[in-house]
Amino acid sequence: MTEFHLNGQLVRVDSPVNWSLLRLLREQRWWGTKHGCEGGECGACAVLVDGRAVPSCLTLAHSLHGKRVETVEGLGKPGDLHPLQEAFVDVGAIQCGYCTPGMLMASLELLRRIPDPTEADVRDALTGTLCRCTGYVKPVEAVLLAAQKMQEELS
Ligand code: FES
Ligand code: FES
Repeated sequence: MTEFHLNGQLVRVDSPVNWSLLRLLREQRWWGTKHGCEGGECGACAVLVDGRAVPSCLTLAHSLHGKRVETVEGLGKPGDLHPLQEAFVDVGAIQCGYCTPGMLMASLELLRRIPDPTEADVRDALTGTLCRCTGYVKPVEAVLLAAQKMQEELS
């Protein structure tokens, strides 16, 4: 039995030893985390484990005992979006949306670490997330806008 916190809630799971966190999440119908390459290359499956962005496809569910996992479902809800989600919508950084959860989680890690990032910081944070639709101009713009709004809210 593995116990960990998922978006603030304690969960207990008894999954096969070879299941990845990605598989576990999707078997539990937490479909926000996307299934891409399953090889650590695309970033679509990124989640935060103890605050660090990791590919959930390469993270064994059994390794999570006692850890804190955050997925895109924990970010915001319809009508109460996280500033990052609002900014992605506002600047038009989403097309098919398949890469968006991974981009959001990688960006969340960045903004917690560097609340006032440069464009280079944002580009670096998004390096591990492949987008086949938008390119990176709009997502980078969105993360910078979110950072600005979050800073204004604090001041
Ligand atoms: S599905 Fe995990 S990195 Fe691509
Ligand atoms: S919006 Fe389609 S892959 Fe990024």
